[in-house]
Amino acid sequence: MASPETNRRVLLVKRPTGIPQPDDFGFDHVALEPVGEGRFRVQNLYLSVDPAQRGWASDGTNYAPPVPLGGVMRALAVGVIVESRHADFPSGAHVYGWFGWQDYAVAQPADVLTLFGAPEVPLSAYAGVLGINGLTAYLALDRIGRPEAGETVLVSTAAGAVGSIVGQLARAAGCQVIGLTGDDDKVALCRDRFGYTHAFNYKAGPVETMLAEAAPTGVDIFFDSVGGDMLDAVLRVMRVGGRVVQCGTASVASWVPAPTGLRNEREVLTRRLSWGGFVIFDHQGRFPETMQALVKMIRSGSISYDEDIRHGIEQAPQALVDVYAGRNRGKMLIVPDGAP
Ligand SMILES: NC(=O)c1ccc[n+]([C@@H]2O[C@H](COP(=O)([O-])OP(=O)(O)OC[C@H]3O[C@@H](n4cnc5c(N)ncnc54)[C@H](OP(=O)(O)O)[C@@H]3O)[C@@H](O)[C@H]2O)c1
Repeated sequence: MASPETNRRVLLVKRPTGIPQPDDFGFDHVALEPVGEGRFRVQNLYLSVDPAQRGWASDGTNYAPPVPLGGVMRALAVGVIVESRHADFPSGAHVYGWFGWQDYAVAQPADVLTLFGAPEVPLSAYAGVLGINGLTAYLALDRIGRPEAGETVLVSTAAGAVGSIVGQLARAAGCQVIGLTGDDDKVALCRDRFGYTHAFNYKAGPVETMLAEAAPTGVDIFFDSVGGDMLDAVLRVMRVGGRVVQCGTASVASWVPAPTGLRNEREVLTRRLSWGGFVIFDHQGRFPETMQALVKMIRSGSISYDEDIRHGIEQAPQALVDVYAGRNRGKMLIVPDGAP
């Protein structure tokens, strides 16, 4: 158990090749560091488990430098400020930001993505549907997908934290929405809970056959979080003028060495596709308005979300493995021991 004098931390101790495994991480238990001028102490209440942590732990090319070996595993978290030496970040305020897989973080303003008082929806939502997952769904669909009523939108990781929100937003925009996900229970969730017009278990047969049935005239927008063979297959059924949102590459086991495969540039050219990469951290300026829009939709019941909440900081490494194995049901979160 953590006590207010000590901080339990999850450290990256080995550089993973591919998907991080529990033995890539270690634990320690250290005295709380003092809070310097202009800083504040955050008690983490929900630790986020994100597929992106694979990239942050690796030393391959990425949009952020790798987590140093021996350092606290980089992670987003929702917490409460318990001690402050910064007037704009008072004790009692809630924050979502870069606080790491640990019980407590001494943070500075640059570590914070969002600051809020009393939560308007359950606090855990600020780490998922109101965190990078829901914000990515909303902003990447809006900026790169640009859905129009009547279009066909295909979503991979369709039942997950990002995908389930993309599906509901695309449906609300008047689109026909098709989901690809990794087991039959999640297929049912997509159809019954998240409003997909069609959903398929991509492990049950060729994606081409599923799309021939559900989208015989092709796909206008592919919101893709897996890349690899699925992306190769979908590029061949995109409609002229289609848009591909490259949100993630979860199916590619390792980028070192770079994988080789089909050449798809001819599909991009002949189908006049736009293929856009998206990184949520480029869009922080739009977080407040987007969060407000999402809060409204949650409160009105027009979008719903699932969470997979585990207890105990020692669960974090295995939880990341489970996300990559598709065993999560919605946003994967860890509640540290001792969190109120
Ligand atoms: N670009 C950005 O700024 C940004 C921000 C947030 C998230 N993302 C990306 O969005 C994606 C979804 O993230 P999330 O947090 O919402 O996670 P999630 O979808 O809740 O969980 C990850 C899911 O990925 C799927 N998956 C894992 N390995 C796969 C494989 N080999 N082939 C196909 N699917 C696989 C599994 O779902 P199935 O069982 O359905 O296969 C798993 O449940 C990730 O790629 C993540 O990196 C990007």
